[in-house]
Amino acid sequence: MNFTGRHILSIDQLSRGDIDTIFSVADSMEPYAHRKKVTKVLDGAILGNMFFEPSTRTRVSFGSAFNLLGGEVRETTGVENSAIAKGESLYDTARVLSGYSDVIVMRHPQSGSVAEFAEASRVPVLNGGDGDNEHPSQALLDLYTIRKELDTKGRSLDDFRIALIGDLKYGRTVHSLCKLLGLYQRVKVVLVSPNELAMPDSYIDALRHSGHEVVETDELEPAIAGVDIAYSTRLQEERFASAEEAKLYRGRYRLNQAIYTKYCEPNTVIMHPLPRDSRSGANELDNDLNENPNLAIFRQTDNGVLVRMALFALVLDVVGQVDRESRPVNWYTGSRFQ
Ligand code: ASP
Ligand code: CP
Repeated sequence: MNFTGRHILSIDQLSRGDIDTIFSVADSMEPYAHRKKVTKVLDGAILGNMFFEPSTRTRVSFGSAFNLLGGEVRETTGVENSAIAKGESLYDTARVLSGYSDVIVMRHPQSGSVAEFAEASRVPVLNGGDGDNEHPSQALLDLYTIRKELDTKGRSLDDFRIALIGDLKYGRTVHSLCKLLGLYQRVKVVLVSPNELAMPDSYIDALRHSGHEVVETDELEPAIAGVDIAYSTRLQEERFASAEEAKLYRGRYRLNQAIYTKYCEPNTVIMHPLPRDSRSGANELDNDLNENPNLAIFRQTDNGVLVRMALFALVLDVVGQVDRESRPVNWYTGSRFQ
């Protein structure tokens, strides 16, 4: 598709060719994200970063990505700090904010809300997560990470096995990821969840329609025994009717080093969209995995900046100008990116 001026709301909008485009632009962002070069290509542009739900990674990495391209960021966090708390509609909010910004990233607790906002917006809107529906930029960075991890093992996106573990009903990252997997071939998808938190049928049907093998189970250990990627998720407690109900499932699936060593094939990659819930009652990915070289969670977060830079560069149509506006970095940058 032609990305210029487009909203990015759902993986449904993207073809496999579009994903290739996003990934190759993301690759080209590495010198900037890894602090080798600075670009001013978006000098003067403003990002409206509108987060009406808690966020660390998505908010800060979209903001950093925009800054790394030379643009400025204006933020609203929490409904209570915006005029939505005074009864202002999404329509009016969108009309107003799109006069202040060149592009908007929005997260909101209601499914479909970002699309509703985008309809009224005068500038492109990127979905930073809408309720239990989708989180497309997360799925893109996840797939980008999976591609890189498989590549080091001589494998490709067209023939691999992945387990999606946890709250697959409310988890928007796995919803978007399933849609993305549907664009590839010969993927075995093992869905691990309690029955009540199973992946909605529409996503499973679409995966099967793409010719993928889909297995559903509520047992962790056998499921992680035969996969290349174990993708764990957090119980989406904020989407449950009551804390009591959420409690029934808290801590159901916990991956730690002992279980990994016992059940996983060597070099199984461990992923998670984060935040992992590190409280003792939940702890879906134990801290004792932190030294495991196959734990890819912080490679995912680093890759998020590349993918989000690519989305801005494509939507604002500056891909060809990024290098023209660049110079080497002139401060100490250390060696955090290897
Ligand atoms: N951060 C991701 C999201 O906002 C996953 C999570 O919160 O569990 O969807
Ligand atoms: N993965 C993710 O969306 O993280 P945040 O909720 O911290 O943005």
